[in-house]
Amino acid sequence: MTHHTLGELQALTEPAERDIQAANDLADLEALRVKYLGRKGLLSERLRDIEQMPPDERRAYGAAANGFKEWLNKAIEIRRAAIQDAHLADIAETEAIDITFPGPPLGRGHTHVLTQVQRQIETVLESLGYQVELGPEVETEWYNFEALNIPAGHPARENWDSFYFTPDLLLRTHTSPVQIRAMQRIKEPPIYIITPGRCYRRDAPEATRVPYFSQVEGLAVDKGLTVGDMKGTLLYMIQSLYGEERKVRVRPSFFPFTEPSFEFDVSCGICAGAGCKSCRYKGWLEVGGCGMVHPQVLRNGGIDPEKWNGYAWGFGIERMAMLKYDIDDIRLLYESDLRFLEQF
Ligand code: PHE
Repeated sequence: MTHHTLGELQALTEPAERDIQAANDLADLEALRVKYLGRKGLLSERLRDIEQMPPDERRAYGAAANGFKEWLNKAIEIRRAAIQDAHLADIAETEAIDITFPGPPLGRGHTHVLTQVQRQIETVLESLGYQVELGPEVETEWYNFEALNIPAGHPARENWDSFYFTPDLLLRTHTSPVQIRAMQRIKEPPIYIITPGRCYRRDAPEATRVPYFSQVEGLAVDKGLTVGDMKGTLLYMIQSLYGEERKVRVRPSFFPFTEPSFEFDVSCGICAGAGCKSCRYKGWLEVGGCGMVHPQVLRNGGIDPEKWNGYAWGFGIERMAMLKYDIDDIRLLYESDLRFLEQF
């Protein structure tokens, strides 16, 4: 049996090189390695009869075999790196946007500061036994004015100029019409309700007023209620919201639907009543109106004023929020600027 010649061994190089160039993935490369360098591979086959060779020929043959092996291993390595690079480049090219990758987490919003204040007011009054009563924002002229003792032509209508759909249908200018609706619905006192909601007035937007705003109205109808009951209730509400160091006061005023009527003030939280820039050196800030329900208003709601009496108040929720957080421009509450809203 004749042994392999050096030429045969060297002839492996060329097909091996072709195979390497043809290899397209790591599996191809591994198959190729086995084909040439594996235990039953082409190189082993050519080394099988090396024992039979004369010593000097054997040395040259062995050296050539080692050289081939080294060369092939290195060539495989280079090809492997090239295949991997191409693979990554391919991914970068075709999957630059990985649609399976989870996006950044969505920011979690929270309720608007006005909603927060409204809910706080509801919670405090509910703890006193008041129930939340809602009414329509599109109101009839009767509920918004007539039933509240503001007949057509009464100068007080000037204060509550509205947006009219028809002469009889308008956007309510205050939450007071819900007083009447609540009395009509509940019929039999005692009645203890609060009614938060949006109101509209024909005012041009400025730092202290906007044409849409919110009020929270309160109504109590029972036997023998006094101004003291009203003031105590409102004091409790104010101190629950703003802290126990706050003081309240009522000033005589006029509303056609209450008698007597008052403006309701809260001591300034910044100067504690001493007077500062924030309260325009008055020491007090006005939050709304209140008073004892006018007998005619009770009658209009179907309640006998000989048997029952009541008190009511209507506060601006924006005003209450501005007081609480020292906000100096009401328009900020409606601009939806996150830099503002995220502070609350
Ligand atoms: N409705 C009045 C307003 O909008 C406020 C008010 C309500 C006053 C209840 C007295 C009693 O200005």
